Amino acid sequence: MQLDQVTYDQLAELEQSLTADYNAVKPQGLSLDLTRGKPSEEQVALSDALDGILQGNYLTEESIDCRNYGGIDGIAAMKHFGAQLLEVDPANVLVGGNSSLTLMHQAVLYAHLLGVDNNKANAWREEEGQIKFLCPVPGYDRHFSICEQLDIEMINVAMTATGPDMDQVEALVKADPLIKGIWCVPKYANPTGIVYSDDTVERIAALGSIAGKNFRVMWDNAYAVHDLTTTPQTLASITKYSQTYGTEDNIIQFASTSKITYAGSGIAFLSASANNLTAFKTQLGISTIGPDKVNQQRHALFFKEAGALTAHMRKHQALTRPKFDIVLNALEAAFGNCDDIRWTRPAGGYFISVDLLPGLAQQVVSLAGAVGVKLTPAGATFPYGNDPNDSNIRLAPTYPPIAEIERAIHVFILCVKLALVQKKLGESPP
Ligand SMILES: Cc1ncc(COP(=O)(O)O)c(C=O)c1O
Repeated sequence: MQLDQVTYDQLAELEQSLTADYNAVKPQGLSLDLTRGKPSEEQVALSDALDGILQGNYLTEESIDCRNYGGIDGIAAMKHFGAQLLEVDPANVLVGGNSSLTLMHQAVLYAHLLGVDNNKANAWREEEGQIKFLCPVPGYDRHFSICEQLDIEMINVAMTATGPDMDQVEALVKADPLIKGIWCVPKYANPTGIVYSDDTVERIAALGSIAGKNFRVMWDNAYAVHDLTTTPQTLASITKYSQTYGTEDNIIQFASTSKITYAGSGIAFLSASANNLTAFKTQLGISTIGPDKVNQQRHALFFKEAGALTAHMRKHQALTRPKFDIVLNALEAAFGNCDDIRWTRPAGGYFISVDLLPGLAQQVVSLAGAVGVKLTPAGATFPYGNDPNDSNIRLAPTYPPIAEIERAIHVFILCVKLALVQKKLGESPP
């Protein structure tokens, strides 16, 4: 679809035929959903061997009975697993329950209320003035909800092809000591799929040396091993750079097996400096005596063999890749020569991010919704649900079966074309 050279009459004709196509979808009674950034049934089934794997083997490799209380930072085998995921030292890993989001929420909550070093005098809320966080956009809505819940003001930062716009980030951080953190999804970012460049990782690692006190980089490496190709992109080590800059205390890293094994019963990891870990464990210890170590042991046995994780992720790739290809090929076929829409072609992760002309995202979401295709609400990828350009839409192709994705993307494309033609028509003189 190329609309640059089209006359008003041609646009009007196009609008009529697209409207007829759209009206023909209505009676089909579709009920399709492209909102769910979660693994499909086939994907979670890849880990069904977790069921029954213990066979009475409750003793961990360090001879702890995983059925009992204790072990606030998890069992040794899963510390090693988390260390492998995040490419850090196992001594710097805490193994939690099933949600890394919970660990992120706790880390922000504790820093805000109790102090990053468990000294209430250093709590963010004790500072004079409004505490703020930098939010590369588009980004992950649940990160933004954490800030919103705690009345931490969010500042949008533009994403570039190499990660957050670091000139903007550094300028903001230098100018305002009340900026206490930044959300980062450094590999296959949600929803853009961007992998941060080495230079970006280095500059983020250095932020602690120019920021106000108690600044924290929330390094959410949720998609560390979620490659869609067999030649994965690599991510530089923020740990190594932070050692160079002496900013180890400014970085907190997260990951989980939510999209590796069971999203509802996985294992989450937090990695941080010894200082941070000590404070976090003390704070966490008020609310729990220990995590679900039985599930940790199940995971330890499931991934016991060398190379098991890589082999397992290949199986995910075989299931998810065709779904991404369907969406990407359909977008290419429909809009390959159109300058009015841009989309990402991710090499990993769970999302495709689409940018429409300003003002069209909400319209497309409601057009699609009205004929039974649910899309992530426009604005969801921005703090406060507010996309200032109303242009970004996040597509999540992993969960629905292939036949549903094919139908849903067909309707999405139709809605985009209709909204686009209507906009052009409104702007062209008759
Ligand atoms: C960037 C990012 N972080 C974290 C999560 C949630 O992780 P968990 O299931 O470990 O809480 C998601 C889920 O979509 C995500 O996209």
